[in-house]
Amino acid sequence: MVTLKARGLQLYGKNPNNLKIHRMTRITRDSKCWNALPRSEEGHIGAYHCKVNTLSEIIKEFNPTIAAQTGLNAGHSAVLFLEFSNTILYSFDIGRWGSTAKAHEVLNKFFPKRHFYIKGDSAVTLKDFDTKVDFAFVDGGHTEDACYADIVNFDKIVKVGGIMIIDDLAIPGVGAAVQKFNWANYEELPISKYKHGYINGIKIFKKLKD
Ligand SMILES: C[S@@+](CC[C@H](N)C(=O)[O-])C[C@H]1O[C@@H](n2cnc3c(N)ncnc32)[C@H](O)[C@@H]1O
Repeated sequence: MVTLKARGLQLYGKNPNNLKIHRMTRITRDSKCWNALPRSEEGHIGAYHCKVNTLSEIIKEFNPTIAAQTGLNAGHSAVLFLEFSNTILYSFDIGRWGSTAKAHEVLNKFFPKRHFYIKGDSAVTLKDFDTKVDFAFVDGGHTEDACYADIVNFDKIVKVGGIMIIDDLAIPGVGAAVQKFNWANYEELPISKYKHGYINGIKIFKKLKD
C-alpha cells in the first residue's frame, strides 16, 4: 500500500480479489472529500487522471455559479465542481446504485447547501427542470436516446455564454447523439488548449445564442 501510494496509486475496495487501482493526481490526493466518497459501482472520471486534471482546469476557468450534470454515480465529478468553484450543483441520476444516495450525503456534509440530487430518469426529470445554468456536464445514460435527451434538455437551460461538456464520446451511443444534435448555436472549444488536453472523449461546446 505504502509503495503504491508513493507511486501515486491507491488501492480501492474491501475484497482483496476485487481491488481496483486508481491513479491519484495531486488534485485527488489533496481533496478534502474525495476519499470520503463511497466505492463506485461503475466507471467514473477518477479512473482517468488526465480527465480529472482537465475537467478541474475547465471548471476553474469558467467558474460557474449554477452548474448541472447528468450522472452523479459515486460523486467524483461532483467533487471537482464543488472544490474548484463556488457553484451550486444539480446532479441528475437514475439512482441504480446504492452508492449514489450515499455520495449525495457525503457531498452535502462537505459542501452544505451546494449539492442537490434529483433522482430519476433524466429524460424525464431534466425535461421539467427550468433553472438556467452556466455549466452543464453530460455523463449519464450512454445510449444514443438517453444522451441525446440530455443534450436537448440541457440546451433549453444553458445560458448564452455558458458551456456544455460531453464525456465519453468514444462510446458509440454518445458519439451518435453528439452527431445527431444541431450545434449551430454553439462553438466547439478546442480541448487541446488545456494543459492536460490530450484526452480522448471529451467535447466542450460554448453557447453563442439561443
Ligand atoms: C458514468 S456514471 C457517471 C460518473 C460521474 N459523472 C463521475 O465521473 O463521477 C453514469 C451514471 O449515469 C446514471 N444513469 C444512467 N442512465 C441514466 C438515466 N437515464 N437518467 C439518469 N441517470 C442515468 C447511472 O446511474 C450512473 O450513475
